[in-house]
Amino acid sequence: MLGMPEHGHEPVMVEEVLRFLDPQPGQTILDCTAGRGGHSVRIAQRLSPGGTVIALDVDPENLKYARHRFEAEAPKDVQLRTFHANFGEANDVLSELNLPAVDGLLADLGVSTNQLIEKSHGLSFSEEAPLDMRLDPRIKVKAADIVAQWEEKEIADVLFHYAQERFSHRIARKIVLTRQREPILTTGQLARLVRSVVPSKPGQIDPATRTFQALRMAVNAEVESLEGLLDLVPELMRPNGRCVFISFHSGEDRLVKQASREWESSGLCELLVKNRWNRAKKKCIATRDREAPSCER
Ligand SMILES: C[S@@+](CC[C@H](N)C(=O)[O-])C[C@H]1O[C@@H](n2cnc3c(N)ncnc32)[C@H](O)[C@@H]1O
Repeated sequence: MLGMPEHGHEPVMVEEVLRFLDPQPGQTILDCTAGRGGHSVRIAQRLSPGGTVIALDVDPENLKYARHRFEAEAPKDVQLRTFHANFGEANDVLSELNLPAVDGLLADLGVSTNQLIEKSHGLSFSEEAPLDMRLDPRIKVKAADIVAQWEEKEIADVLFHYAQERFSHRIARKIVLTRQREPILTTGQLARLVRSVVPSKPGQIDPATRTFQALRMAVNAEVESLEGLLDLVPELMRPNGRCVFISFHSGEDRLVKQASREWESSGLCELLVKNRWNRAKKKCIATRDREAPSCER
């Protein structure tokens, strides 16, 4: 069981984010994943005097927390604009602000520690909770709906594609057989079901981990949202703007690398980081936008 860090989440790779984002006084930075505000506050300290942080999050509770934390900890002369929005809608947010582009963009992908621990999201299998997994209350389909209604093959595909689950077919079959007898409504029920068909050895991760990760990604359309953001990046960035992505998931990492290589080969940007930084499976891609035509003002 994870312990809750101060503020509910410890921001990762802060020094690296600041080094590559290189925020300067008076600039405007888009934090696509405000979370508990850890990165936003540290960025704001570099923007003073003046400057603006535009912070987005799909989770209104995290966004509220980030706002309070920013008020308490960020320099008073740095403005914060918060939006309950998916980063795939970042262009709409900028239009609403009448802002053509930003100097820097950060996307710290995934979920925050408090979201994993808090029962309300139903993301953790260590405690009995409703099988929900929605980060954004605007989403209609919960994880319980997927396991209740999707075809066996669709469920297996989700498990395989989003979590490389080797036993995807076995788990999907078990879900379909179980739901004919009783509805699968809680995290505990689903975790026990997965453990009953996936072999595991002591010391290995819980066999339910991959299933929970894959369902969370499906419920929140995480891959589609990232693809949406990556499509927007060239138009969101000012010339010489910088963007930083932090990813813990190999599929997302691949998408970011693919997009950044395309930007680089079409002359839109220069890659500042090309390889893995450490063995902890944390990766960061930073790009420096040079001359995105749509960024010209
Ligand atoms: C790893 S946490 C970010 C933590 C943050 N950098 C901090 O310092 O506290 C990821 C955050 O992104 C949010 N999120 C996930 N997908 C999103 C999306 N498509 N659009 C906007 N926010 C998203 C989650 O709700 C979560 O709050």
